[in-house]
Amino acid sequence: MEKKTIEHDLKMYSNLDELNEQEQKLIRKAKEFLELSYAPYSKFNVSAALLLENGEFIAGANQENASYPLCICAERVALHHAAMRFPGMKIKMMAITARNMERSDLGPIPPCGACRQVIAEYQDMLKCKIKILMIGDQPQILEVASIDDILPLGFNSDYLPSS
Ligand code: THU
Repeated sequence: MEKKTIEHDLKMYSNLDELNEQEQKLIRKAKEFLELSYAPYSKFNVSAALLLENGEFIAGANQENASYPLCICAERVALHHAAMRFPGMKIKMMAITARNMERSDLGPIPPCGACRQVIAEYQDMLKCKIKILMIGDQPQILEVASIDDILPLGFNSDYLPSS
């Protein structure tokens, strides 16, 4: 038996001032996009903002349904929104935030497993690394250089038959 260890780099900033202007703007957009969340069931608003290579900002917010499994996460709404408006355009960054209607002390919000898989698919398809910035109510920001850092041993099309 051979033991293997996977290491990943995460960065934690203490507040927005430590980020560059573009990153600060993306986080401000993500916070604005919380208003687009439709979350009457979970009462947990989530939003995602994308910055594309052409400079466009794209919104995403969770959209829920009385048939609970049909709820769709903010990150996937944003990615599909970008794919419709600017097909093939590389994505530079994603900022994710959330608001819990019962408390106001959330730390950085990480994407769920399903969204990690979808982010990985777009990274592969667009041949780019998507930096991810995560923030909650608190001022700290968690950054990963790409989804690779929070989706180790991910599944991708390389495993599928070629034809
Ligand atoms: N949610 C997201 O939008 N993104 C995530 O990564 C995790 C969860 C949403 C889905 C649902 O509307 C609510 O948060 C509670 O799970």
